[in-house]
Amino acid sequence: MARPLLFDDRECGMPPALPQGVRLWRARLDAAARWRLLDEIMAVLRQAPLFAPRMPGSGRPFSVRMSNAGPLGWVSDAAGGYRYQPIHPETGRPWPAMPQMLRRLWAELADYPAPPQAALINYYAPGARMGLHVDNDEEALDAPVLSISLGAVARFRLGGLKRRDRTISFLLHPGDVLLLAGPSRLRYHGIDRIFPDRGEPLPAPLEEGRINITLRRVTPPQPLPARD
Ligand code: SIN
Ligand code: FE2
Repeated sequence: MARPLLFDDRECGMPPALPQGVRLWRARLDAAARWRLLDEIMAVLRQAPLFAPRMPGSGRPFSVRMSNAGPLGWVSDAAGGYRYQPIHPETGRPWPAMPQMLRRLWAELADYPAPPQAALINYYAPGARMGLHVDNDEEALDAPVLSISLGAVARFRLGGLKRRDRTISFLLHPGDVLLLAGPSRLRYHGIDRIFPDRGEPLPAPLEEGRINITLRRVTPPQPLPARD
């Protein structure tokens, strides 16, 4: 019996026109690089287990579970809201070091004069999604956000600078790297759904679902001391 069509195959290609400041590198990480990176991510998750962030105020948990690597990590809970902090909210330990591969990818693609401070790891189990939002908890809003997809295919939705602006959507495949920079840094975006049967499996114990890693600069780089 023919498999039902899960999505329109035309979406596998490049979206027709990406707005200025958005860049998409299809399969920027080849299979070997994806597995190497997944190995590093699993090592991070053994030290800094996935936690369920909660909405500010309501305390409702996100469907996506998260962890971080690097000097700072993004967290959220009912009382404290969205923020960056140097320690894991449950273990109280500093976040593990940022894998070298991620620092290198940022240096190659981000066009920013300082290294990323946070690698936010999002884990989408089948059924998880992420509503439209803007990444604006960073002080260094001149720095781009660089996003790496691994595991299952996902439908990414990209909007405008206002929540009600028109949106476009396209699929993200394992190894794809997406940059939101400059005039598109504060665009609304989200993940409509993942396709657990498309893409690649994740290492044990996750096995299924999707991992997304976003690299962020949180604070502006220190200015060099004035010389006279
Ligand atoms: C995010 O907006 O933080 C995640 C985007 C993604 O999962 O691709
Ligand atoms: Fe985001």
